Amino acid sequence: MSKIDLTKLHIEKLSDDNLSLTEDFDCRDLDLNEFLKEDALDHQKEHIAVTYLCFYEENLVGYFTWLTDAIEIRGRDKRVFRKIGMTYRTYPAIKIGRLAIDKRYRKQGIGSYLLKTVISNVLKYSEDIGCRYITVDAYPMVKDFYGRMNFKIYSQRKNVVFMYLDIEEYL
Ligand SMILES: CC(C)(COP(=O)(O)OP(=O)(O)OC[C@H]1O[C@@H](n2cnc3c(N)ncnc32)[C@H](O)[C@@H]1OP(=O)(O)O)[C@@H](O)C(=O)NCCC(=O)NCCS
Repeated sequence: MSKIDLTKLHIEKLSDDNLSLTEDFDCRDLDLNEFLKEDALDHQKEHIAVTYLCFYEENLVGYFTWLTDAIEIRGRDKRVFRKIGMTYRTYPAIKIGRLAIDKRYRKQGIGSYLLKTVISNVLKYSEDIGCRYITVDAYPMVKDFYGRMNFKIYSQRKNVVFMYLDIEEYL
């Protein structure tokens, strides 16, 4: 497939009207596919997490889900954060709950486009409501994807890497 024109991407909030367009979405991850098709709209209606769809022309190519979060500074990290003047126990954050690109549209810059969309919106909203970090619980195999955008590793377990981005890096 030839590279797509990123200026033709557009983003729409998930709704009753566009839910049917998620039917063919396949990012090769069952959990991420099923969440979009079966749970995302309910989560949205219950004010738990909000999902945005990304279209290329009429095709659904990716989505992200976000929600509020807080980073808790624990144990040894307290000393590290205190050194840079961060003395509170928790800091406000926005969490990327889910982010996925359809398998037919990978490696064409769409994932980066969605990540940049999240970052620029958080920067904008943080002017009106306190929010210092963006967090993500990433699969180990995609930690470099987030690392490229300056996300740092907070901690990790076997199947998940807890990562955060200090939005001051983008100011
Ligand atoms: C991870 C994912 C979102 C990347 O989307 P994408 O549209 O393919 O990413 P991009 O084309 O913007 O890639 C940007 C860069 O990151 C790199 N990259 C992409 N996927 C990567 C991965 N899995 N691991 C490491 N680097 C990756 C690309 O090679 C590219 O680098 P380049 O510009 O030097 O070529 C996509 O592969 C995906 O949906 N994966 C399955 C779902 C998933 O794991 N989501 C994350 C849940 S935490």
